[in-house]
Amino acid sequence: MKNTVAVIGACWGDEGKGKITNYLSEKADLVVRVQGGDNAGHTIVFNGNTYKLHLLPSGIFDPNIKNVLGNGVVCNPKGLMQELDEIKKAGFEGKNLYISDRATVLFDFHKELDAIHEERLGTRKIGTTKKGIGPAYTDKASRDSIRMCDFVSKDFKDLYRNVLIAKNDELVHFGHEPIDFETSYQEYQRIADIIRPMVVDTVTLLNDEYNLGKKILFEGAQGAMLDIDFGTFPYVTSSNTISGGICTGSGLGPSKIGEIIGITKAYTTRVGEGPFPTEMLNDEEELGSIIRERGHEYGATTKRPRRVGWYDAAVMKYSANINAFTGLSLMLLDVLSGLKKIKICDYYELDGKKLFAPCARIDDYARCKPHYIEMDGWDEDISSIREYDKLPLNCRKYIEKIESLVGVKVIIVSVGPDKNQTIIRKELF
Ligand code: GDP
Ligand code: IMO
Ligand code: MG
Repeated sequence: MKNTVAVIGACWGDEGKGKITNYLSEKADLVVRVQGGDNAGHTIVFNGNTYKLHLLPSGIFDPNIKNVLGNGVVCNPKGLMQELDEIKKAGFEGKNLYISDRATVLFDFHKELDAIHEERLGTRKIGTTKKGIGPAYTDKASRDSIRMCDFVSKDFKDLYRNVLIAKNDELVHFGHEPIDFETSYQEYQRIADIIRPMVVDTVTLLNDEYNLGKKILFEGAQGAMLDIDFGTFPYVTSSNTISGGICTGSGLGPSKIGEIIGITKAYTTRVGEGPFPTEMLNDEEELGSIIRERGHEYGATTKRPRRVGWYDAAVMKYSANINAFTGLSLMLLDVLSGLKKIKICDYYELDGKKLFAPCARIDDYARCKPHYIEMDGWDEDISSIREYDKLPLNCRKYIEKIESLVGVKVIIVSVGPDKNQTIIRKELF
């Protein structure tokens, strides 16, 4: 048995990865982020408290768990310090953090360039989180970035000076104020001195721990439909959010990845611009608003209202294919209680043909018409149910329809935001 479990967002992010990672972390020795940065917003609720994590892995609250930011992460040192300060204020030490020496450093100029890029796109804007993610990964791909090993080295000052000269040229070109080298350098140097002990070779660390039989939990960020290759390009993020990203973002090879759990809401949400075939619009807009309020569907990072739609089994089938899910975790099922009818999209109709997967061309979405199966809802409040068989019959029928359409078993059902509001059908680890 492989002692690794991956928690992967199956759709457009915010599926509840933080909750499930934190739940599963009880049995884990390590929790690892492999991609993205502080564009992520993962909500964790336990002991009556709510925490929102952006960069810190969701096992950070347990001092016995090693929390790792892998090489695939773009790490904003200022955001990281702020988060560490916040969890310290809440009574947690945060000493159990390991940062890859190969991780990319995300600077303030990346954030500014992100905002400039969005502004220049005008009506075609992506609706990014403005956390600098695209520009940071761009620098990595063009081999201009500063990595964590350089950030904490004695060469940082010279490296940063050179990079900032080029970036300030860009900022000034677009009518923005240049960033002052000395002030910003001092601030980053102060942080580098604090985090230096945490910066290690996480590739060796993870492989050593794996070889010792330690339990490793991977915490995906964003979701498959925001993947740079497989998502609704260009309305995507700039990393590989699918399960394949675990290997490139951590340094554990593919044969070492065990269970791959797709996290999926009982309906669908998306924040930011871009196609969303099952979005509740026009006469369904009001229902969408009701679900938004019940599910508190507001971005954990940007506070933007999330767009709401029906369950999209066409997206999910595609997501199951590209991620090779071994199980699903169905989230926020409690939010659907009381709905008379619930719809599931099983395919799209495009130019008279049935389409069972999302389109590659963004313009084709405008002509895509979702085809729906309509199911009867249930009235009961399910938030205190802890056994699958005690769920209302129509609720189980809904779950089983999802399983048959997606072709993957639902092994976890979540009926509330709290860690305890979880029904387990198959033990992991
Ligand atoms: P993540 O980015 O995938 O970690 O998800 P977010 O934290 O951004 O968004 C998920 C939201 O749903 C958060 O507000 C969670 O507290 C909440 N949540 C998670 N699971 C459940 C559930 O089963 N029921 C309800 N009502 N809320 C949930
Ligand atoms: P978690 O991990 C939902 C979206 C943004 C935008 C697009 C590109 O909490 O699920 P970026 O700032 O990454 O360049 O923005 O991706 N996005 C997310 N949507 N959840 C997230 O993370 C997201 N991270 C980025 O809204 O549409
Ligand atoms: Mg989120």
